Amino acid sequence: MNVKVVYYSQSGNTEAIANEIASELGVPAYTIDEMPAAALDCDVLFLGGAPYLNALAKELREYANAIPAGKVGRVVLFTTSGVSRRTILALRKILLRKGILVDCKHFFAPEFAIESRKPAARAFARKHVKEANSICCGTDVKAVAVTAISIAVATAAVAGVTVAAVCGARHFKKR
Ligand SMILES: Cc1cc2nc3c(=O)[nH]c(=O)nc-3n(C[C@H](O)[C@H](O)[C@H](O)COP(=O)(O)O)c2cc1C
Repeated sequence: MNVKVVYYSQSGNTEAIANEIASELGVPAYTIDEMPAAALDCDVLFLGGAPYLNALAKELREYANAIPAGKVGRVVLFTTSGVSRRTILALRKILLRKGILVDCKHFFAPEFAIESRKPAARAFARKHVKEANSICCGTDVKAVAVTAISIAVATAAVAGVTVAAVCGARHFKKR
């Protein structure tokens, strides 16, 4: 499986997480300048960034817009920030609009906990490459399946009660 790790980082937090993910997967971590979007050709792309003034960095936005659909199997997002997940939301929106699959789960490391989140970043990387089962396209597949099953069970229960009521009514009418 061809995996690439690409990030945009101004002060090094996202870079630190990208390095953990890449090291766990045995691949290099590239900045967006080192790995032009047009050159991407991989099964899984780990893409990371951070919000600045509550916005996705212009550089990373342009990068995501330039990723060629059809050349990237799916994208797994990661971010560092004070509190905000804006980078994830914005990147997911751009990529899904382009028809690129994005994993439902992303990795988040708060800026004050970069060091302590490193082992979790490695575990996340392992899980999302080796157990690639949470692919989404704007939809949580598991949640949809659970909802569909719940609706089916509820429908069957209502149908059963209705049939029982009708049969009961007929029985009493005959008598
Ligand atoms: C100018 C500036 C603006 C920031 N704005 C936000 C913000 O709006 N929301 C947030 O959660 N974090 C914000 N942060 C925190 C960064 O997102 C956080 O430190 C992040 O880890 C930086 O990633 P980097 O080191 O990879 O550049 C801001 C940081 C800076 C320097």
